[in-house]
Amino acid sequence: MSEDQMRPVAMMSEPEAVAEWADLVHLLLDANLAYHRDDAPVMSDASYDRMKRRLAELEAAFPGIQRAMTMTSPTDMVGAAPADGFGKVAHRVRMLSLENAFAAEDVADFADRVRKFLNHSGDLTFTAEPKIDGLSLSLRYESGVLVQAATRGDGEVGENVTENARTIRDIPQRLTDAPEVLEVRGEVYMSHADFAALNARASAAGDKTFANPRNAAAGSLRQLDAGVTASRPLRFFAYAWGEVTSPLAATQFEAIQRLNALGFQTNPLTILCDGPDSLLAHYNRIESQRATLGYDIDGVVYKVNHLGLQARLGFRSTTPRWAIAHKFPAELAWTTLLGIDIQVGRTGALSPVARLQPVTVGGVVVSNATLHNEDYIAGRDSKGAEIRGGKDIRVGDWVQIYRAGDVIPKVADVDLSRRKIDAQPFVFPTECPECGSPAHREEGDSVRRCTGGLICPAQAVERLKHFVSRGAFDIEGLGAKQVEMFFNDEILPVKTPADIFTLAARDAANPLQKLKNRDGFGETSVAKLFAAVEARRTIPLDRLIFALGIRHIGETSSSLLARHYGTWENLIQAIDFACTFTGPDWESLTGIDGMGEVSARALVDALIPATAERGEVDRLVGFLTVLPVKAAETDSPVAGKTVVFTGTLEKMTRAEAKARAESLGAKVAGSVSAKTDLLIAGPGAGSKAKDAERLGVEVIDEDAWLRLIGG
Ligand code: IVH
Repeated sequence: MSEDQMRPVAMMSEPEAVAEWADLVHLLLDANLAYHRDDAPVMSDASYDRMKRRLAELEAAFPGIQRAMTMTSPTDMVGAAPADGFGKVAHRVRMLSLENAFAAEDVADFADRVRKFLNHSGDLTFTAEPKIDGLSLSLRYESGVLVQAATRGDGEVGENVTENARTIRDIPQRLTDAPEVLEVRGEVYMSHADFAALNARASAAGDKTFANPRNAAAGSLRQLDAGVTASRPLRFFAYAWGEVTSPLAATQFEAIQRLNALGFQTNPLTILCDGPDSLLAHYNRIESQRATLGYDIDGVVYKVNHLGLQARLGFRSTTPRWAIAHKFPAELAWTTLLGIDIQVGRTGALSPVARLQPVTVGGVVVSNATLHNEDYIAGRDSKGAEIRGGKDIRVGDWVQIYRAGDVIPKVADVDLSRRKIDAQPFVFPTECPECGSPAHREEGDSVRRCTGGLICPAQAVERLKHFVSRGAFDIEGLGAKQVEMFFNDEILPVKTPADIFTLAARDAANPLQKLKNRDGFGETSVAKLFAAVEARRTIPLDRLIFALGIRHIGETSSSLLARHYGTWENLIQAIDFACTFTGPDWESLTGIDGMGEVSARALVDALIPATAERGEVDRLVGFLTVLPVKAAETDSPVAGKTVVFTGTLEKMTRAEAKARAESLGAKVAGSVSAKTDLLIAGPGAGSKAKDAERLGVEVIDEDAWLRLIGG
């Protein structure tokens, strides 16, 4: 809006001002992030200044506006860090998680995959070290001075806990002889002895105690008052790094030694191994010492030692290909199965949940556990083969509960010798317990699903809850409880996500029974709710995709899709063309690294044109401004290009070539079409090279490709 189109503030009502204020705040916050975090401004300085002036004008005319909202206005901000609670820190190098291994074969598989990816048959060394059960922290040093400490957050943006980290004894404030910029990463944890003493003090003072050392460490670090953190005995092990202006060393092992020489605590059980056998030997050694280490660990981490190889291996969407966490086995306990409830999820899956006599498993009280699906209860796997020796699970049984770290506990086994004589086999419902629609099992699917779709209230409510959840639209004041209330409300019903965006208009059009006059609401809370909804009319593409709650499309796939397609229009058009499950659009979709055919099929199935479900999605999008997402590395020479590899590659494997191209923002397709920009042809290239010639697609060899992408 240009200045002369803006309504004079003197003519505005407070709700109108709140709505415009919230819109402006969101546009400005996004602009801030784009400018400060991504170095990719989305608006001109002049527009930014104009919007900021308008914001200040609104705030001056309606002084209550900011207090009525829980958002912080950009008029109060410097750069991109919001001032509420902890400031946010955008990690310059993402903080990733680790793929898990549970069995010896998984470790051998890991080593094989590394070799295959690199096409490497010579020596290959790994480091092996304990996996510390705490919370990760990134410490940024500039010219040897600690300038910032940030938690992992969602891996891209963490919380600024600098002042708190300064109180931790193991964290040096200054370094000598360090690279100009050095981000040291590691784990904050609490020792068993310190944890016990802290809890003893807390219970003597009548305060709440912590369930385990990890919660105590997290709760102590994330204190708004750094004085509280200082009084808690936190420790820190360094095991990785983020941004560095000069390499720490040539290998992981030497880099850790270097961090130790700089003054960080590094774990003394870190060693070098030459393959799966020695990795497993060290795993057993560490496991046998686990109880006497004095701090919690939950596995052993293996990392490829040579940093050059690590760089070639690179990353999947959230985990590096060069490391794996070999977890310790889960903890077990026995209790009585009191009942089996069936829950209906947002994709219609009927999930049996065990109601248990509460029991402590590894320090946590468990009263519910998953029973997976009907086959699992009956003692069969999805292919009909026996599990647990074919023993079924019945209400009243004495059952074994299994808990592995944060994973939802499950019923693992049953003791038949304690089964009551009159115990009856469990009959799994074939109708949805919520809407009565038939519940079907598709061929090859282990899950029975309600076929009611949007008519099933359980599915509809679960979809709405997902839609407003944190990683999705995250609408302030509209949580699971409010969603259930509006879903069942006769005056202002919300049955689908689109209905959320008509709430304010419907309320305005209803002269009687205004929301603000109803129980549990009031003028301010309604204004806040409507403003929060307004604020989310502008939404980044990845969040929108995730919010739709499509089966197999979680946050990772959503962000892959958003980066691949850039805009909602591109995505939906590609889906319309891909709904025959063949052709270049389908191939491009299934070719996205990390997507896979199952997710692609689920996405297309959920958005098939001319269905009621698609109609609802189109209606929703009609209410929104969807912000495009920046493709990966848009400044690389191949960003946005569609490339195809063919023939034999000699300098790298096909998987490595594909991953590299995608990390540079290129799309890698399986076949040549009119949309292909570049064919990289090695020796032995056949029909694809001919197709390229026919279609006038540029063809280069592997060396030219490497020169193009900078080696
Ligand atoms: S390496 C790029 N090493 O485990 C991967 N992580 O489950 C960098 N963790 O987020 C992590 N001990 O918080 C690494 N010795 C260790 C670790 C470790 C604990 C944590 C870390 C990570 C999580 C993944």
